[in-house]
Amino acid sequence: MDQKSLESSLQGLGLSKIVYFDSAGSTNDIVADWARAGEEGLCLAVADEQRKGRGRSGRRWITPPGSALAFSLLLPEISLSSSGHLGRVAGLASLAVCHALEKHYSLSPKIKWPNDVLLDGRKFCGVLPEAHWSGESLQALILGIGINIAPTSVPQKKYLNFPATCLEDSLGKPVKRLRVLRQVLKELSALIDRLQSDAFAQAWESRLAFLGQDVLLSDRVGNSFQGRLLGLNPEGQLRLRLADNQTRLFQSGEIRLRPVIDRQDK
Ligand code: BTN
Repeated sequence: MDQKSLESSLQGLGLSKIVYFDSAGSTNDIVADWARAGEEGLCLAVADEQRKGRGRSGRRWITPPGSALAFSLLLPEISLSSSGHLGRVAGLASLAVCHALEKHYSLSPKIKWPNDVLLDGRKFCGVLPEAHWSGESLQALILGIGINIAPTSVPQKKYLNFPATCLEDSLGKPVKRLRVLRQVLKELSALIDRLQSDAFAQAWESRLAFLGQDVLLSDRVGNSFQGRLLGLNPEGQLRLRLADNQTRLFQSGEIRLRPVIDRQDK
């Protein structure tokens, strides 16, 4: 992968800026700098290797060279204007990854809410959405996406907090990173236009992992909740029916989700 092959693979997708890095700290930080410098439109930074890749909740995200897709998008103005649907931005990338893999590889990925993507119950894709505010005003929305492609991209067990896999292991054959990137970005730009639609919410909800099953949620301050995963509300919050039969809503960002069965197995 290099700047030239990246640009030629992504032709016709309407990206305003495409920059390739052999090695970067975190592509989310690069794109955040672009936002501060006033870049506009749908902008993309791709790194072959990340030295300081970040996951959600302050975790590390490891991107060894030549093995994965690590990229960040600065979303265009239109997504800011639908900021009433900010919760849905969390589902944008994971849904695009699902659509691409269903269409082109006949796979059936699931979304571990809010935005991990699983194949056969193992995580192969993580999404780090970041919103930049100036007071009350939303300045920029960034979506960072990491996809494990080759087996060498799957971190060692000691670094995992959930079982992991990669696309090539699921398919049993090599795949071209640039092809996957184009397929995902094509789906993503189609979904941006449909962010506010009922169809978007339904498509996200229908791909939820553990739908209708009992799950455990734990928040950052150590509270945990067990209940039946009912689905999503229109803002993309998770609906859980607790033991007292009350339905409770959860915001993305703060939560760790596990199937109850997972815990009993340990
Ligand atoms: C998670 O599962 O916790 C989210 C992982 C997000 C990783 C991607 S890789 C590209 C972008 N740059 C980063 O530093 N993180 C995101």
